[in-house]
Amino acid sequence: MKEDAIWIKDQVKAHTKWFEESLPMIASENLISPLAKEMMISDFHDRYAEGLPGKRYYQGNIYVDKVELKCLELARKIFKAKFVDVRPTSGTVANIAVLFALAKPGDKIATPELASGAHISTAPFGAVGLRGLNPVHYPWDYKNWNLDVDATRKFLVREKPKVAQFGLSVFLFPTPIKEIQDALQEAGSAVWYDAAHVLGLIAGGKFQDPLREGVQIISASTHKTFPGPNHGIIIADKVDDDVQAKLQKAAFPGVTSSHHLHAMAALAVTMAEFEIYGKQYAGQVIKNAKALGSALYEMGIDVMCPHLGFTESHTLAISVAKHGGGAQCALDLEKANIITNKNMLPGDTSSVKPSGLRLGTQELTRLGMEKGEMEEVARLIYRVIVKKESPETVKKDVWELKKDFTKVQYCLNEGTEAYKFYDLV
Ligand SMILES: Cc1ncc(COP(=O)(O)O)c(C=O)c1O
Repeated sequence: MKEDAIWIKDQVKAHTKWFEESLPMIASENLISPLAKEMMISDFHDRYAEGLPGKRYYQGNIYVDKVELKCLELARKIFKAKFVDVRPTSGTVANIAVLFALAKPGDKIATPELASGAHISTAPFGAVGLRGLNPVHYPWDYKNWNLDVDATRKFLVREKPKVAQFGLSVFLFPTPIKEIQDALQEAGSAVWYDAAHVLGLIAGGKFQDPLREGVQIISASTHKTFPGPNHGIIIADKVDDDVQAKLQKAAFPGVTSSHHLHAMAALAVTMAEFEIYGKQYAGQVIKNAKALGSALYEMGIDVMCPHLGFTESHTLAISVAKHGGGAQCALDLEKANIITNKNMLPGDTSSVKPSGLRLGTQELTRLGMEKGEMEEVARLIYRVIVKKESPETVKKDVWELKKDFTKVQYCLNEGTEAYKFYDLV
């Protein structure tokens, strides 16, 4: 019905306005650039392409093929990798494809545990379970939010998992893969790294470089620290032709038919923009996370891992056990237009009532915020969760801060020389 369509549009408009007035701090989200947005509503959205460029099952893909080849070329360059597939339509879809390529039902896979910050794809009720795999978990050093290196070495040699998977959803520090490389080789494990959260930091050269540290295959979302469309990617190096063929077969027809061509084009545009702005953006994201961490800590808030500088990524984990718990604090912050999520911390048993919050700085950075603004964000958070000030009052000051930061930065914007060439829609 017409009324329903109008009502739906109104909800989306209200949501958009709300987010414009808010401080979005969910660590897995980001903003796409104006050009990437144009790609998302271009005619590419309405089309199908199955298979690989030049070997499609459908006609009408002349320009789609050109864009996909460019996307692959840019990705190979940015990640210094021989093999890329941009057909998975999300990080989870990329993970399922990797699991299909590397393992068969009944195989053993080593993963971090959910309580260590792992993603549900590696849980028995997620992709790992869907593939019928047998998960075993790395010994974890909860104090340092990372693998226990010595114990993990022994564990790998003992367990000999077919696949060793790394990567987290609360990804504070690089994984010490170089340090366990000898054990991975002795175990004969295929080494897979889920970079969903840190892809933009890796691409900007500011985190670890998994492919140079012994990882064979990276899977990722392209919309968290990498500021692209909701989509997925598989990147590999030093894998033989057989594994490449298996990854491609898993990507299509395994987990996709057509691969959301509008998102693929938006990803290509984001990669082109990332070549110009990516390094600076990634560096600022991490500086901002560290600045936010120390400002919160100085106000008496329990930010995890102070002895390690809180984080080396975009993410902070904070304990709010003494301020009413993660669920309550996240709700109060939302009322003040500060958008975060509750999160389990080591020792928590309930994901519904955990003691922590997870914060990410990538989206605020993309809007141009720097250290001074992070200190202001910390004060706003403090007023809500420690001082228990009325969220309605704090909300006004959230807007005072946010109103000067509503335009996406680190990308080709209107007025920049290159922008006018892209005037598509
Ligand atoms: C480590 C990790 N892998 C995979 C995913 C799934 O990504 P997507 O939402 O693109 O399927 C997430 C999502 O947050 C994640 O944190």
